Amino acid sequence: MAKTLVEKKSGDLKNINIKNIRQHLIGLDKKVPLLDGSEVQYVNFDNAASTPTFDFIYDKVGEYLEFYSNVHRGTGFKSMVSSWVYEKGREIVAEFIDADLDKNVIIFTKNSTEALNKLARRYPFQRNDVVLTSLMEHHSNELPWRNRAFFDHVGLKPDGTLSIEDLKEKLKFYNGRVKLVAITGASNVTGYINPVYKIAKIAHDAGAEILVDAAQIAPHRPIHMNNNGMEDIDYLVLSAHKMYAPFGVGVLVGSKSIFEIGDPSDVGGGVVDIVTLEEAYWTDLPEKEEAGTPDIIGVVALTESIRMFQAIGWEDIIEHEAKLTAHLLRRLKEIDKIIIYGDADPANSHNRLGVVPFNMAGLSHALLAAILSYEGGIGVRNGCFCAHTYVKEILKVKAEEARKLEEEIKRRDRSHLPGTVRASFGIYNALEEVDRMCDLLEKISADGHKGKYILNPEKGEYMPEGFKIEVTDYLRL
Ligand SMILES: Cc1ncc(COP(=O)(O)O)c(C=O)c1O
Repeated sequence: MAKTLVEKKSGDLKNINIKNIRQHLIGLDKKVPLLDGSEVQYVNFDNAASTPTFDFIYDKVGEYLEFYSNVHRGTGFKSMVSSWVYEKGREIVAEFIDADLDKNVIIFTKNSTEALNKLARRYPFQRNDVVLTSLMEHHSNELPWRNRAFFDHVGLKPDGTLSIEDLKEKLKFYNGRVKLVAITGASNVTGYINPVYKIAKIAHDAGAEILVDAAQIAPHRPIHMNNNGMEDIDYLVLSAHKMYAPFGVGVLVGSKSIFEIGDPSDVGGGVVDIVTLEEAYWTDLPEKEEAGTPDIIGVVALTESIRMFQAIGWEDIIEHEAKLTAHLLRRLKEIDKIIIYGDADPANSHNRLGVVPFNMAGLSHALLAAILSYEGGIGVRNGCFCAHTYVKEILKVKAEEARKLEEEIKRRDRSHLPGTVRASFGIYNALEEVDRMCDLLEKISADGHKGKYILNPEKGEYMPEGFKIEVTDYLRL
């Protein structure tokens, strides 16, 4: 039995299930300060942005740290262990997303954004090629494609879901020029899930490939890159920090063939076989695309989080998150002045992610989010969630208003930034936490808020007047 420096409290992963996972959350009992001077246990409803971690993942990282060393070509035993861990990580990721390692390469990156940028730089677009994204994408699956090829968007249906009809029309209109359909697996704004296998078939029938941005969907639904040919997913990205492994690693999976040709997107140590003063000879994949020392700890954490998803099982995860979502929607609907965006029907909770955008009439999203934090100890996110165009669609912001807002923002005035509050769930959230937020929303709706909040126009954020707490009272570096 391996001896570890870290006292292992987490127990065996085999005993982890949806009922006890909450007890394993690091920081579960952490109290945070409120405006009235008291402290409460924190409620984290910002899982769509990033997730906290669990004791068994932390323990696994601690166990590995005793062997920490750099990977590849190190002759020491610890380097051999590190190299094994890092390469085993690729196999575990491949198994998780059902990727075929004969055809695909698993490249570790920093996050989904870096993975998408890398793919956009390395994808072999020719003159006149078209890349299609959609109007519901996160900026990370929008901006990297701009200027790389002719660029267009698949439109939305009036309810904010992706229009498959428009996808078909665009593919027909471009008549074989679309080389890649880059689409999110699920929206980080509305929680809508896209039918990616159906989209894959439609794209392939038109001669295009498909990339799935799995940053949001990966922690909530199983993904199969290998789907009998026409429904295969050609490229996929994900971020470990959204999967309860916030130790800094992301993944890009895709066809080996495009990365084998040409220069790597980043160069430096690790990507070459030999360097002369005139030339560099690139090494084989995947090292060719992983310049510099990789995030081995991030990979260790990701493998343990994957083992956790496998131990708990998707059925229980989906059931639990759907229960939270249905409960939130039911309660929000009963609160005066609350406006829910996207699908507000609790009966559909199994067919979407637990990502719920809402506002309260008469209060800005930034103020409501501040009140939830300072008067409730509840962490949500507000604004446009790096999906400006989609949020404007959902909120039905008129073109004239949007232009006025753009001018204001360019002048560094974010006072009127459109947006919503977003509550997003993870596997460890509890129904009582949903009630705690909804009870507070009820109070705010009926009686207003306690504090006097001051807007910082440049940031678009509210701070309560006289709030004196220093972060350094809680954490020093
Ligand atoms: C759908 C989607 N894609 C991409 C990203 C970017 O992920 P990361 O910040 O890990 O690069 C996010 C982050 O919120 C997202 O929600």
